[in-house]
Amino acid sequence: MKYFFTPSYARTLEKLEIIRSSLRWKSELDYTGIQNILAQINQVREEIILLAAKERFRQGINDNIDDNKDFGSNKRSSRKQALLDRNFIFDGVFGDNENLLEMLEIAEKAARTYLPVLIEGESGTGKELLAKVIHANSPRAGESFVSVNCGAITPTLLESELFGHVKGSFTGSLKDRKGKFETAHKGTIFLDEIGELPKESQVKLLRVLENGDIQRVGSDETIYVDTRIIAATNRYLFQMVKNKKFREDLYYRLSVISLTLPPLRERKDEIPLLIDYFCTEAAEKLDKSRITLSPRLRHFLMNHSFRGNIRELRNIIYRITCLADDTADLRHLPEVIRPELSDSNAHDNLKTKNISLDEARKSASDEAEKKYLEDSLKQVKGNVTTLAKYLNMNRSYLQTLLKKRGIKPRDFKSV
Ligand SMILES: Nc1ncnc2c1ncn2[C@@H]1O[C@H](COP(=O)(O)OP(=O)(O)OP(=O)(O)O)[C@@H](O)[C@H]1O
Ligand SMILES: [Mg+2]
Repeated sequence: MKYFFTPSYARTLEKLEIIRSSLRWKSELDYTGIQNILAQINQVREEIILLAAKERFRQGINDNIDDNKDFGSNKRSSRKQALLDRNFIFDGVFGDNENLLEMLEIAEKAARTYLPVLIEGESGTGKELLAKVIHANSPRAGESFVSVNCGAITPTLLESELFGHVKGSFTGSLKDRKGKFETAHKGTIFLDEIGELPKESQVKLLRVLENGDIQRVGSDETIYVDTRIIAATNRYLFQMVKNKKFREDLYYRLSVISLTLPPLRERKDEIPLLIDYFCTEAAEKLDKSRITLSPRLRHFLMNHSFRGNIRELRNIIYRITCLADDTADLRHLPEVIRPELSDSNAHDNLKTKNISLDEARKSASDEAEKKYLEDSLKQVKGNVTTLAKYLNMNRSYLQTLLKKRGIKPRDFKSV
């Protein structure tokens, strides 16, 4: 996402006019000419997408103000309105949730600086989106936003990916290669899953944070980079520091400004707004008409636990938009979460036991979790990797959960 300035309809129209007139006067186009025009059209396209998202966002806010006539919520809505009035760019939607508004206000202030930002939050809470929002609202918006997933690359390749390498520095390095830090010079680098960064690479990152110096793998030459760092993690990084898994000095340098995105279950007030937003988005992207939700489906979504947070809600809305004709109902939900399947017999068991309410609650939720995991495993025939992907959950965390509940994935292979 590259924003050279805040897009407006007038500027975008002006660009279209330039493309139109340059095409009108050209009798023929060579390859470079076509590429140039394509690049201009792509930019206009990106701007229109951004403008449409902004429009939806404004619409959402106005609807919300209309829906919340009482003084308290209007007062909160004005906080959102103030962000918009300051031309805050947000490629999504958000409600009146105070915790989230606070995060966005900090993000807005942080955006104007070069300071490193650490974004924490469960999977699917919008960490990457927020990182892009910080970049888009920063003076670096016209430069590159480069994203690196520290957990997806093997430790040996990660260093070359981040800092580059010189020819012959390791087997297969046939020519010099720039790393992501150099590519993001003057722009922003987004270090996703920073908790997965191996200890050796942590030292090198510390050096960039201290004085902006990097060295390509296999070279002694120091290269200066002016790259703003935004890191994200769904692990509890401070605990990793305590367990000596993550360097303390690096933690403090990365978290000069730290933001924690609340899970969706703690900002349920936003669910209706998000549903609305994704219904429109899914209809546009899938080229279908906008679906309506049956009251019981809406009720289900309002009360679902959303372990995969906003991503899970988005996936559900895309799925039901694809499957339903006009009105989506419970039957369009993925089987693993369809209410019939998550029925628990925990309550029946509890009736027979003489236990306290708290114990009953805990036992019921343990039972429900166990049943949910077993049903889900059945659906994916015991494949933990597939299930972890579906639940947007770290695979090793899922395995810990399964172990805790005494569930053996291999028992579900042939179910
Ligand atoms: N406020 C929002 N409005 C609209 N869409 C959102 C919002 N927050 C998140 N999303 C969407 O939800 C999805 C998940 O967001 P994102 O990838 O930023 O999460 P994440 O925290 O980085 O997840 P992970 O830890 O799994 O990488 C994306 O499609 C994103 O566009
Ligand atoms: Mg992410």
